[in-house]
Amino acid sequence: MNFKKNKLFVEKVNSLKIVKKYGTPTYCYSISRLKKNISNFQKNFSTINPLVCFSVKSNSNLQILKEIKKTGMGADVVSKGEMLQALKAGISPKKIVFSGVGKKTEELKYAIEKKILLINAESESEIFEIERLAKIKKEIVNVGIRLNPNIDAKTLNKISTGKREDKFGLTEKAFLKTLNNFKNSNFVKVKCLSVHIGSQITDYKPYLKMINELDRIIKKSNHFFEYIDLGGGMGIQYEKKTKLFNYKKYNSIIKNFLKKHKVKIIFEPGRAIIANSAVLFTQIIYIKNTDKKKFIILDAAMNDFMRPALYGSFHNIIPLLKKNKKSKKVHDFVGPVCETTDRFLSLKGFQNLKEKEFLAISDVGAYGMSLSSNYNLRPKPSEIMVNKKSMKLILKRQKLINFI
Ligand code: LLP
Repeated sequence: MNFKKNKLFVEKVNSLKIVKKYGTPTYCYSISRLKKNISNFQKNFSTINPLVCFSVKSNSNLQILKEIKKTGMGADVVSKGEMLQALKAGISPKKIVFSGVGKKTEELKYAIEKKILLINAESESEIFEIERLAKIKKEIVNVGIRLNPNIDAKTLNKISTGKREDKFGLTEKAFLKTLNNFKNSNFVKVKCLSVHIGSQITDYKPYLKMINELDRIIKKSNHFFEYIDLGGGMGIQYEKKTKLFNYKKYNSIIKNFLKKHKVKIIFEPGRAIIANSAVLFTQIIYIKNTDKKKFIILDAAMNDFMRPALYGSFHNIIPLLKKNKKSKKVHDFVGPVCETTDRFLSLKGFQNLKEKEFLAISDVGAYGMSLSSNYNLRPKPSEIMVNKKSMKLILKRQKLINFI
């Protein structure tokens, strides 16, 4: 996204052209940004040659997954739906890992049938269930066991996953016990140790702690793991004040670890790959002036984009037409949903705005559309992909007739 003169462009397309053609609210992705993110990610870890499995929960649009597949990435899925979508996009089952604390029998059956690379189990009961199903099918199933390393990822509480009080994975004691219990299983092979301590992590230090814990626990286990799945979680710069994640440091920490452990590293990034490749276009419906502030009432709401309402997270708002005149009043950018938390941003000094003007909410590619809902019986937005000069509809706006 960039301004040419005072107009916002996505790659080589004027944003105004997009909103006029496709309406609002609309998610709009830049393919070149997505490709750049992927190649940067791969470059950052090129010396350790990992298998990179895109976390489908962050964005499950089929066309996006097809683009991701072209780069050789695999997929990290957490439901049968996501597995189906990854396979539909052409991603090989041999590059699919399946995570989640509550996989149902039907989902496990499907994963076994498809012979995916790994089922990353999160409880002993789950592995018993996998073993039971594998026995019926007379298959040997490769599994990972997710460790809960009890590490504070120093991120938002609501997206932390690696502390003892979080529901994910097994504590060291339970992990070692489970590993031992399945050592001699004829149907389940524990090939992987998996871990994921949280999301939007901007400091490398929690990862350093995590790797040190892995080193210690692997030695203690005396087990040969073919894969170590380090999960995702690398943060991005939603706000200028956020420091950039230090990939160089993380890479060198892993390189040191690999000197002691001859394993294949798996990553499961979502946000780092897709977050900053999209904006959500929206139109101002009304402007309501009060003594203290102006409510800028948008046609996008928390059902279309949930992160600010759910986590209080910051997403910048950009005008499609830049003007110099700034308003002194506080602007509250809100949606039409009947909830006070249906608010995107509150700030002073925004440029003067008029009703019917268009705006873009930034960095919405990850956990944007995938977290959208039909709350207030609102249809889900459309999705557009821009590639240099061309634009393409990649998901039609939902029609009321399809869900009410
Ligand atoms: N692997 C596992 C096992 C995960 O649970 C997650 C995310 C990822 C990979 C990908 O994490 P990422 O690289 O995207 O940080 N809805 C929240 C984020 C929830 C993340 C859940 N797990 C948000 O909008 O911030």
